[in-house]
Amino acid sequence: MCGIVGVVGRQANDAIDVLLNGLKRLEYRGYDSAGIYYVDSMNQTDQVVKAVGPIKHLEAEVNQEQRAQTGIGHTRWATHGKASLTNSHPHVSQNERFVLVHNGVIENAAALKATYLQDVTFTSETDSEVIVQLVEHFASTQDVFEAFKHTLTLLEGSYAVLLMDREHTDEMYIAKHKSPLLLAVGEGFNGVCSDALAMIEYTDQFIALVDGDVATIRPTSYEISNLDGIERTPELFTANIDQEAAGKGTYPYFMLKEIDEQPIVMRRLVETYLNKENESAIDASIVEQMMEADRIYIIGCGTSYHAGLVGKKLIEEWTHIPVEVHIASEFAYYPPIISERPFFIFLSQSGETADSRQVLVQTNEMNYPSLTLTNVVGSTLAREATYALYLNAGVEVAVASTKAYTAQVGLLAILAQRVGDQRAIDATSQIDLAHELSMVSLAMEVVLEDKQQFETLAHDFLATTRKAFYIGRGVDYYSSIESALKLKEISYIQTEGFAAGELKHGTISLIEEETPVIGLITEAHTAGQTRSNLSEVASRGAHVLIISNETNAEPTDQYVIKNVHPTLQSLVTILPTQLLAYYATIERGYDVDKPRNLAKSVTVE
Ligand code: M6R
Repeated sequence: MCGIVGVVGRQANDAIDVLLNGLKRLEYRGYDSAGIYYVDSMNQTDQVVKAVGPIKHLEAEVNQEQRAQTGIGHTRWATHGKASLTNSHPHVSQNERFVLVHNGVIENAAALKATYLQDVTFTSETDSEVIVQLVEHFASTQDVFEAFKHTLTLLEGSYAVLLMDREHTDEMYIAKHKSPLLLAVGEGFNGVCSDALAMIEYTDQFIALVDGDVATIRPTSYEISNLDGIERTPELFTANIDQEAAGKGTYPYFMLKEIDEQPIVMRRLVETYLNKENESAIDASIVEQMMEADRIYIIGCGTSYHAGLVGKKLIEEWTHIPVEVHIASEFAYYPPIISERPFFIFLSQSGETADSRQVLVQTNEMNYPSLTLTNVVGSTLAREATYALYLNAGVEVAVASTKAYTAQVGLLAILAQRVGDQRAIDATSQIDLAHELSMVSLAMEVVLEDKQQFETLAHDFLATTRKAFYIGRGVDYYSSIESALKLKEISYIQTEGFAAGELKHGTISLIEEETPVIGLITEAHTAGQTRSNLSEVASRGAHVLIISNETNAEPTDQYVIKNVHPTLQSLVTILPTQLLAYYATIERGYDVDKPRNLAKSVTVE
């Protein structure tokens, strides 16, 4: 959700390429317009270039011969004002001296305009423009850096900001509060970006800026301080990103590649966390703190929330500790009564989700112990929680999360078993989880070999329908809501996931001739009931598709997945539904990886 990239001092004169490549790498975050500001100090030229739509539109606007050493770039995901040239970044101040890109939301933009900027003619509808106009306002009486800091002290909301002064283009001012921002330290140049992926082609050395940081960066130096001027010299970290793995290879879409990677991701979890020689991969104090908890709270959004629901079942079954799962954006403003000894688990692929971070800030204030499970090393949620464990799923680019979901569930299983084992719960201690997850991996591979079948099923059931339902009971209900989210977010079919027994309490009135209802049946003690619910909808004209496992299969079921350990079955159930979502979207002619209105990293509340 909005991506930022900036660079100062590229001696190779390739700053425009650095910006455009960086923005392409940030495309996964979701955006609807893009822009850059570049400076060619050799020839004393500079220019803002913007375009609505994909980065290739922006590229087409840039003069191919143009060289530059410094610049800033931005992909915008509209929050205030529609996607248009005037609303896209960079924004330029009224006297044209200052140029700025911003990620985040300025909640008091209207009040700031009314107080300080009545005489300014705004060119956009954005909240971001307020920042650059305020800098100009204060710079009439203050040094530019002081004017920048003065502006920051007035802002309420979230920001990652890059500011350039056209009278001093050899440096850049940057600041961070709640929105992600990294300093990229190169040889002979410095950069800045929302995600290390944007600059990894040019350097692997980064500094994670923290909230309240404000900095000046130049080609070979940088100074970081807080708004009170107290300097900070943070450590560099090396970003370990496999650039090839971050590419699509021969796949038409990242989503298909990422679906295919799931068996490997399971094996990697086993190697990382269940290898006897590597037992310290899970810090013993995480296990101790979880054992001491009287209740575990799992916090997440979207797919991560759904992984939490499956995790609840796993943790309760294997540790006997009660678990509550909460949608982060609800918990932040309507917290439940918290138990005496809580332990918080934050689930987030990106590690940057603003809603989840809002809760983490609150739990940190209360000194509650917390653990983040994330895919992104050094991300905000990883840094700010008491502990972090990494999914090691490799970069997930498609907006629709697939391998991060199964990695989250897999890692929660590993954690649950470790805690249950320590609590001497016999049944848990007896599980050979490395073996069971290897069986999951094999069962996943079998599904992936049957892609053709899902292409056909998507064609038969989902090619033209306007709505669809997934239903199931127990953990199949949790898989149903995740499956429904996957289908609706990329194919735009209005899809709901339901507890199978609930349909008859209202929703069954939506069933019409040919409405697709997909039943998930993997638990023996409710298989009969779910089949009855499917008969009820079939009698009313529904087009019923059944995905079951071997134990519960009937000859007419359209797809049967392999049995694995019953508590881990949902790790396999989800793959057919990911493939159905993928092929339905292809069939309907939409961009699988970049669904409309959505962002990969949701950094606003
Ligand atoms: O990065 P996070 O896991 O915190 O993101 C949470 C949701 O925004 C995310 O899972 C979203 O629901 C996915 N697009 C679903 O595929």
